[in-house]
Amino acid sequence: MTEKGSMEKIIDESQQGSTLTLDQDKNNNRKLYIESYGCQMNFSDSEIVASILAKEGFNTTQLLEEADLVLVNTCSIREKAETTVRKRLEKFNAVKKINPGMKVGVLGCMAERLKSKFLEEEKIVDMVVGPDAYKDLPNLIQEIDEGRNAVNVILSKDETYGDIAPVRLNSNGVTAFVSITRGCDNMCTFCVVPFTRGRERSRNPQSILDEVKDLWEKGFKEITLLGQNVDSYLWYGGGLKKDFEKASEMQKATSVNFAKLLDMVATQQPKMRIRFSTSNPQDMTLDVIQTMAQHENICNYIHLPVQSGSNRILKAMNRLHTREEYFELIDNIRKIIPDCAISQDMIAGFPTETEEDHQDTLSLMEYVKYDFGFMFAYSERPGTLAARKLEDDIPEDTKKRRLREIIDLQQKHGLYRTQQHVGKVEEVLIEGTSKKSDTHWMGRNSQNTVVVFPKENYHVGEFVNVKINECTSATLIGEAVGYSKNN
Ligand code: SAH
Ligand code: F3S
Repeated sequence: MTEKGSMEKIIDESQQGSTLTLDQDKNNNRKLYIESYGCQMNFSDSEIVASILAKEGFNTTQLLEEADLVLVNTCSIREKAETTVRKRLEKFNAVKKINPGMKVGVLGCMAERLKSKFLEEEKIVDMVVGPDAYKDLPNLIQEIDEGRNAVNVILSKDETYGDIAPVRLNSNGVTAFVSITRGCDNMCTFCVVPFTRGRERSRNPQSILDEVKDLWEKGFKEITLLGQNVDSYLWYGGGLKKDFEKASEMQKATSVNFAKLLDMVATQQPKMRIRFSTSNPQDMTLDVIQTMAQHENICNYIHLPVQSGSNRILKAMNRLHTREEYFELIDNIRKIIPDCAISQDMIAGFPTETEEDHQDTLSLMEYVKYDFGFMFAYSERPGTLAARKLEDDIPEDTKKRRLREIIDLQQKHGLYRTQQHVGKVEEVLIEGTSKKSDTHWMGRNSQNTVVVFPKENYHVGEFVNVKINECTSATLIGEAVGYSKNN
């Protein structure tokens, strides 16, 4: 169990450009190095950026030293994420001394938050591009080519990049992200996302279905539908979620919500494994859980961040549900999908959090016994309601201690959950070689738990039945007993 979950992976997202289709007319074969930080959405966005720039003649490279253009897709969610990016910019500065022609652009949430201030604060930066402005990159690059700095941080009400086929970066060829919504309207008081990613909008379902079909034809076996708040997905012909009330009767009658979208994707691609992230408890409806139960290919796993177990803190966070309503949702999930895995995000030390509030968080965890979780100390973000209205008054060592207690309890629950798999035979999709052993495969079961087993004659991308023999608090260890019927 870790403080930095999969949402916080820092991965070098570059790859050789051999899979890119280049427009030979414009092509002067420039080299693009792109690196992503933060949430899965950023990794997905970098694939859109690589696609836009492939048409401009950019090949991706893994070598920073040979890059003509360096792009860093940034995260603002906690202060530490921003510090990491700034340190990385220092490294780019050093590289620029041996590669003086190199241009540097910042993308993503820090770009949106800091805007042109970024150019003043970090001299290495030539270009600042917010998450809704990537289609303007060709013009912005022309600006910097001509020696001017370039900034576009305009947020959009309708941009979903639904018409852009992402270039899969650093892909294992098996699993892929498909974005379905952008932005977030929830305004949790601690969260910078509504400011950096703008209003919530949903992508045309047909473009989602087309992308999933294309992935299946290319050999992909699992997709994750992505959004800050997927349960809030709503398509009625375009436009903001908040304007749905003004839509025509016809638009309302033919609208597609998240449960319907899930059903459409699962029906169209009955052998594709389907996951989704993230669900906000206040927006998750029973029909989503029922749709999951109806389709074998929708994985039995829900990431259901709660942040706190205290009603008082939930209210101060503007999470629009109570502890009791959360329990009701958990009970419904367990009733409808008994073996569903559930994971959490938690924040320790939100302003005014008392010892009693913290105990409420621990007791909520006892009730749910999450399979895993991503846990953080509260980090005040400039401009958020919490930053404006509440003093960051929990001492750092108290935050750390509470976080430690949350992580330790999660570790205990993780082990309790993994132990339930021991002795069972479970379907695993092979994703690649185990990090710890060249002779073992690594894959995941439906519940998203990592499973490791000897390779024998199986291959990446195959569905295999694995007998689980042992476990740690986060990993299952077993042996293959044959192909699964899905293979
Ligand atoms: N709905 C989004 C949430 C994005 S933020 C999603 O796709 O997951 C991911 C997690 O970061 C949140 O659930 C929260 O636990 C944590 N987080 C957000 N803002 C934070 C802050 N100011 N301090 C500490 N943790 C924060
Ligand atoms: Fe942030 Fe809350 Fe949206 S955590 S992304 S404002 S659901």
